[in-house]
Amino acid sequence: MAERLVKSSFRILGVSTVAVLLWYGSNQVFENNLDPSTFFAFIFAFFSVIEPAKSFAKAYYDIQKGLAAADRIDEVMQVKNTVIEMDHPIRIDQFSRSISFNDVSFRYAAHEPFVLRNVCFDIPEGKVVALVGASGSGKTTIVDLINRFYDVSEGSITIDGHDLRELKLADLRNLIAVVAQDPIVFNDTIINNITFGKTGVLQPAIEQAAKIAHAHDFIMTSDDGYQAIVGDRGVKLSGGQRQRLTLARAVLKDAPILILDEATSALDSESEKLVQDALKKMFKNRTVLIIAHRLSTIQHADIIFVLKDGLIIEKGQHGDLMEKNGEYRKFVQLQAF
Ligand SMILES: Nc1ncnc2c1ncn2[C@@H]1O[C@H](COP(=O)(O)OP(=O)(O)O)[C@@H](O)[C@H]1O
Ligand SMILES: [Mg+2]
Repeated sequence: MAERLVKSSFRILGVSTVAVLLWYGSNQVFENNLDPSTFFAFIFAFFSVIEPAKSFAKAYYDIQKGLAAADRIDEVMQVKNTVIEMDHPIRIDQFSRSISFNDVSFRYAAHEPFVLRNVCFDIPEGKVVALVGASGSGKTTIVDLINRFYDVSEGSITIDGHDLRELKLADLRNLIAVVAQDPIVFNDTIINNITFGKTGVLQPAIEQAAKIAHAHDFIMTSDDGYQAIVGDRGVKLSGGQRQRLTLARAVLKDAPILILDEATSALDSESEKLVQDALKKMFKNRTVLIIAHRLSTIQHADIIFVLKDGLIIEKGQHGDLMEKNGEYRKFVQLQAF
C-alpha cells in the first residue's frame, strides 16, 4: 500500500515536471528566446537524469522499510530478553571443558514455586548428555537457563568456569544451537529462516543443511522454493516441517554445543527415523544435550540424568539405571518419554 502510494507520487511528480518544462520551454522557443536544438538537448539531458534520481529516492525508501523490519525483529528478540548483559562482559569464542549447574534453583517469579531445586550436573565437552523426566519436570527450563533466557534464582551456571552472567550474551548464544520443542519460525522467506541472521552463506551450504534436516524436499514443493514466505503471510507449515526447518538452522549454525529439546516430537515416525539418523551424524565432534521422548535416542548417551519435579533423582548410563530398578526403569517400561 505505502509502496504503491510512493510510486504513484513519483509518477505524478515526474509527469507534472515534464509538463511544466515542455510548456515553459516551448513558449521560450516560440518567442525566439531559445534555440530549438538547445531545448531538445536540455529535454534529453533531463530524461537521462530522471531515472537515476528515481532510484535514489527508491533506495532511501527501501532503507526506511529495512529499518522498520529490523525494529520488528528486535521486538521479537526482546520478548524472551529478561536478562541484562554486564557492562564489560567476558568474550568467549570456544567451548573446551564443560557446562556446570552448581546447586541451581529457579522459579519464574518471586511468588511462584521453585521449578528447579538444587540442581547439580555437568555437561562435559564432547559428550552426549541426556535429560529425561515427565512433562513439567523442568527439562525445557534447563535449556532456557543454559541459553540465559532467564537468570538462575540461586546457585550458578558456568561454562568453562565462567558464570553465564559475566559473558557477552551473543558470544554465549553463538556457541549453542538449539532445536526447540516449540520452534520459532519468522514471517520471512524460508532461506532467511534457515540462515537466521548469518550473513555470507552460500546457497549450496543452505541446501545441504536443509537436505540433512530432510527439509529440502518439502521446501521444493512450493513454487517459490527457498524464496517462499512462511507463516501468516505465506506458506503454512506443519509442526514437523517447522521442526525440520529449525533443524536445518541448527545444522547450518554448526555450533560446538547442540541442544535438542524433544527435537523430533512433532515428526511422524517415518521422518523421525530419517531425521534421527541425520542428528546422530551431527553428534560427532560436538557436545550434545538431548531431551528425548524416545528411548532409542538416549540409551547410548554417555550419561543420563533423570529429573522429577525439578530435582535430579537418578544419574548414570542406561544399563546402570535399568539395573537400579528405579524411576528410569519405570520410564522405560512405560515409554513415558
Ligand atoms: N514461562 C513460564 N512461566 C511460568 N511457569 C512456567 C513457564 N514455563 C514453564 N513453566 C512451569 O515450569 C515447570 C517446568 O516446565 P518445563 O521446563 O517446560 O518442563 P518440561 O520441559 O520438562 O515439560 C512446569 O510446571 C511449567 O508449568
Ligand atoms: Mg519441555
